[in-house]
Amino acid sequence: MTDKLDKTQDTPRGSGVPMVKAEDVHKSFGHVEVLKGIDLEVKPGEVFCLIGPSGSGKSTFLRCINHLEKINAGRLYVDGELVGYRQQGEKLYELRDREVAMKRRDIGMVFQRFNLFPHMTAVENVMEAPVQVKGVNRTQAREHAMQLLERVGLADRAGHYPSQLSGGQQQRVAIARALAMEPKLMLFDEPTSALDPELVGDVLDVMRDLAESGMTMVVVTHEMGFAREVGDSLVFMDGGVVVESGHPRDVLTNPQHERTQSFLSKVL
Ligand SMILES: Nc1ncnc2c1ncn2[C@@H]1O[C@H](COP(=O)(O)OP(=O)(O)OP(=O)(O)O)[C@@H](O)[C@H]1O
Ligand SMILES: [Mg+2]
Repeated sequence: MTDKLDKTQDTPRGSGVPMVKAEDVHKSFGHVEVLKGIDLEVKPGEVFCLIGPSGSGKSTFLRCINHLEKINAGRLYVDGELVGYRQQGEKLYELRDREVAMKRRDIGMVFQRFNLFPHMTAVENVMEAPVQVKGVNRTQAREHAMQLLERVGLADRAGHYPSQLSGGQQQRVAIARALAMEPKLMLFDEPTSALDPELVGDVLDVMRDLAESGMTMVVVTHEMGFAREVGDSLVFMDGGVVVESGHPRDVLTNPQHERTQSFLSKVL
C-alpha cells in the first residue's frame, strides 16, 4: 500500500498534466457513430478501468488514444499533447506518419490476442522494438529484455518460442515486450479474456505489480475483482458514452444508473 501513497504524493491532485484527457471525443465508422462524446481524465500513475457491454466502443476509444483510429470531433490529449495533431493558434495541423509513430513509442499496448512474433523466442520478441526502432545495441537490449522477463516471472522461458508457451505466458511476454520501450502509458484491451481461467491470475499479478510501480494504465477488462482491488478509477461505457464513473468500489457496489446496474448484474 505504501507504493500507492507515494504515488499520490508524487502527483498531488490538481497539479500535473493528465496523462490522458478526452474532451467530447467523437468517432464514426461510415455513418455509424461509435463514440458519441467521451469526456474523461486519467491522472499520472493511475489505474483507469473501462468496462461496458460488447460494442460500446471501449476498444475504439483505446485505439484513438494511440492514434490507431482518428477521431472525428473533440480533443484528445496524451501527457498534455494533442493526439495526431499540432495546434498553432486556433488551427490544427495533422502530424505526419513519422511523427505519429514517434509519439506511439511512448504508449505500450497489450491486446486480447498476444500477437508475438512466432519465429522469435521470448527474449527476441522483447528485444525487437528497442533494437529496430530505438537503435539500442543487441547486448544491452538483451540484458534489459532478460530483466523484464524476470519481472514477469519468465526468465526461465527466455529461449522458448511462442508456440512453446501457454497463453498466459505469451501474454506476460507481450507485457514485457511493451515495457521494453519504456512507455509512459500502458493500454490493455481485455488482456485476460482469451485465457483459460487458471492462467488469468498470473497475468493479473504482473499487472498489479506494474500498477504498484506507478505505471499509468488504462485497462479494458471484465475482471471486476482486479478493477475493484487495483483500479483507482472506473468508467462504465454504453452506446459510445460514459454512463457512470467514479472509484471502482463505489461504482461496482453502488451503481447509480439503471444501465450500470443491469450490466453489473450480468457480469458480477
Ligand atoms: N474498423 C471498424 N469499422 C467499422 N465498424 C467498426 C470498426 N471498429 C469497430 N467498429 C464498430 O464500432 C462499435 C464499437 O466497437 P468496439 O470494438 O470499440 O467495442 P468494444 O466495446 O470494444 O466491444 P467488445 O467488448 O466486444 O470488445 C461496434 O459496433 C463495432 O462493430
Ligand atoms: Mg473490445
